[in-house]
Amino acid sequence: MAPRKLAVANLQAGYGDVQVLWDVTMEVGPGELVSIIGSNGAGKTTLMRCISGLLVPTAGSIEVDDKVMTQAAPANFVRAGIAHVPEGRRLFSAMSIRDNLLMGAYLRRDKAGIAVDLERVYAMFPILAERRWQDAGTLSGGEQQMCAIGRGLMASPSLLLIDELSLGLAPRVVELLSESLRAVNKSGVAILLVEQDVMNALELADRAYVIDHGRVTMSGPAMSLANDPAIREAYMGLA
Ligand SMILES: Nc1ncnc2c1ncn2[C@@H]1O[C@H](COP(=O)(O)OP(=O)(O)OP(=O)(O)O)[C@@H](O)[C@H]1O
Ligand SMILES: [Mg+2]
Repeated sequence: MAPRKLAVANLQAGYGDVQVLWDVTMEVGPGELVSIIGSNGAGKTTLMRCISGLLVPTAGSIEVDDKVMTQAAPANFVRAGIAHVPEGRRLFSAMSIRDNLLMGAYLRRDKAGIAVDLERVYAMFPILAERRWQDAGTLSGGEQQMCAIGRGLMASPSLLLIDELSLGLAPRVVELLSESLRAVNKSGVAILLVEQDVMNALELADRAYVIDHGRVTMSGPAMSLANDPAIREAYMGLA
């Protein structure tokens, strides 16, 4: 069997006494693009935080490339090739765009590789190159998302986690970001995407999982979920 980039099994997690994730099992294959769909408060961000070491699960396991990472620190998830583009983007607003991007490479020592990847990000999002010396706080919402994705790519990940790609952004910007992600994925980087625009999430993905009240309730090829009457009614507002 091909090694799985990410394998989550029977994961339980929460905050204090409040359990949020219940028995979550899911996986991402090498180079796959997988979407997670779910209502507000379903536990999508909580899952992403577990997969990047920001929240330690109370039970279950997380394996990256068949190596157990369940209790690992965030830096070790980055070393294992996982980069997290967090909900709300979380840029350092008083730092330049260039320095924000370089923050993504903080664990790397290959100066030449970092320089190559920085040019790659600039080529992907020319607006970031033009404004590289400007504070990230001066960017529009869409540009901030480009910078956050760019920062993630600067870690040279094999799996990119993106929590809320399009929240609050204009359709034109969402289209551009989606195209960029397709290109990133085509270059061999697996992507785990949380996206509130369910139509877009399923258009982009190979496979998807539906999370409801902290449990995986459905999963399968994105195409078949997009055609599922229950999904269309509950998550796309279509009859
Ligand atoms: N730091 C925290 N402390 C306590 N409870 C939290 C914390 N973060 C999230 N929760 C709770 O955990 C549940 C799941 O939240 P989570 O952010 O994972 O949902 P989500 O699916 O990402 O939602 P959204 O679509 O709104 O981003 C919610 O009930 C939320 O209130
Ligand atoms: Mg969230």
